[in-house]
Amino acid sequence: MEWGMKNRLSRLIQKDGRALFLPIDHGYFQGPVHKLEEPGKTVEPLLPYADGIMLTRGVLRSCIKPSISKPVILRVSGGTSIIGEDLSNEEITTSVKEAIKLNASAVSASIYVGSKYEHQTLMSLSKLVNECEEYGIPVMAVTAVGRELEKREARYLALSCRIAAELGARVVKTYYCRENFEKVVKGCPVPVVIAGGPKVESEFEVFSFVYDALQKGAIGVNLGRNIWQNNYPVAMIKAIRAIIHEDATPKEAQQVFEEEKK
Ligand code: R5P
Repeated sequence: MEWGMKNRLSRLIQKDGRALFLPIDHGYFQGPVHKLEEPGKTVEPLLPYADGIMLTRGVLRSCIKPSISKPVILRVSGGTSIIGEDLSNEEITTSVKEAIKLNASAVSASIYVGSKYEHQTLMSLSKLVNECEEYGIPVMAVTAVGRELEKREARYLALSCRIAAELGARVVKTYYCRENFEKVVKGCPVPVVIAGGPKVESEFEVFSFVYDALQKGAIGVNLGRNIWQNNYPVAMIKAIRAIIHEDATPKEAQQVFEEEKK
């Protein structure tokens, strides 16, 4: 692996082999989602505890101070909206030149395996990898499901993750599933991080699925709504950080959360 690629990956994946990425890219198809109306304000208190932030060029330029030292994962796919016909109809929105200008440590694009636009999104990922490899920029593939949240089961996720890795993604972001998640990770030859999906009922549920995902081989998270939509987002990210980088159990993470809430 080239020095530049290694350097960018090591800024994102920490020395312990783990990573806590904080995504605030949701507006690229959902608009101003709850608690992300002003992304800059939402993310500022959370940044010290994240290993990287994932966002679009528009929010990066307008809402994030250029003096930040956190590595940026630039979302470069899109072109759909939550009220449009088909969320899978994504293409590449942002050039690699732009990613370099914005000093991105990685770029990220969604694939929609099994959808009407499967081929288009897989070819977009492949072409993105071709170009990014030229410049030593890692691509994080996102195994997206659009509105079909029920697709989040091991067989489908394993298929999507493996295809993403085969096409050259250096990291794959996927969803957690309770059953057989270890098979998803085992079948994917590159590091896997999990998203959280829509906010769940309790903090303990989040701590439990993050912990379980790590036990089953994930290297960390790319977790948004379950952090910044919580009423105590700083307590939440600190507790998740304890699971990822200090091997805290869900019970210990809950203690961290309760302490920090005060
Ligand atoms: C989807 O809107 C984005 O790709 C998010 O980055 C991804 O779903 C992770 O965020 P969350 O944990 O909120 O699902």
